[in-house]
Amino acid sequence: MDESKRAGPQERQCVVNRVIKKLGYFVTALGIRLGIIKHDRRWHSSDSLLASWSTRTEAMAKLITKPSTVLELGCGNMALEKLLPAGSCYIPSDLVYRGYGTLVFDLNDSYLPVFPTCDICFMAGVLEYVKDVHRLVEHLSRCCDEVIVSYCVGGLRLANGWVNSYKRNEIVAIFNKAGYRNTFIDKWNDKTVLFRFSKETD
Ligand SMILES: C[S@@+](CC[C@H](N)C(=O)[O-])C[C@H]1O[C@@H](n2cnc3c(N)ncnc32)[C@H](O)[C@@H]1O
Repeated sequence: MDESKRAGPQERQCVVNRVIKKLGYFVTALGIRLGIIKHDRRWHSSDSLLASWSTRTEAMAKLITKPSTVLELGCGNMALEKLLPAGSCYIPSDLVYRGYGTLVFDLNDSYLPVFPTCDICFMAGVLEYVKDVHRLVEHLSRCCDEVIVSYCVGGLRLANGWVNSYKRNEIVAIFNKAGYRNTFIDKWNDKTVLFRFSKETD
């Protein structure tokens, strides 16, 4: 049978699956906004963590060049741990328990716990879910001198369940206000920006 004819329905099925998945995110995000669905329900599902995010983590992890104590917020599948220089100490944290040693806390809780002191805070694909980014960054400035963070400046925010919308210079301004300066900036894809922020030392 002609291969091109067989690929047609399969490709259509893939598109349908993608649309159903996005629709599912949209309904969940709407449910969370309306207070019908608990925020962490989406993240309990193993389907919610995508393998395609690993290249983002890899690109960001390259910025860690010496053994460090690293606190990862929104650690997901903890892919970062294996990418750290030998001798590093990895502290995972997330909204849901992700395995041994996970510090479980909700970055949108009315009260943020004291974070462990660390050299670097690492946030890949999590800032978009934080309601009060100013509060979180101020909080981080008390426990670490360096933050490596990604932020998506485009895309369908409600459909993805994202709760804020900043431009790249606004993200820089938030960190500047908390005493950090921008020491690295790059793109991961056409919409996601990778930043490193470091404390002013002089
Ligand atoms: C897009 S995933 C990114 C996972 C991982 N950092 C990566 O890049 O593969 C977002 C992660 O943030 C966590 N998360 C979402 N909302 C959160 C919140 N309010 N507090 C803490 N973690 C949250 C999710 O459980 C999930 O692990």
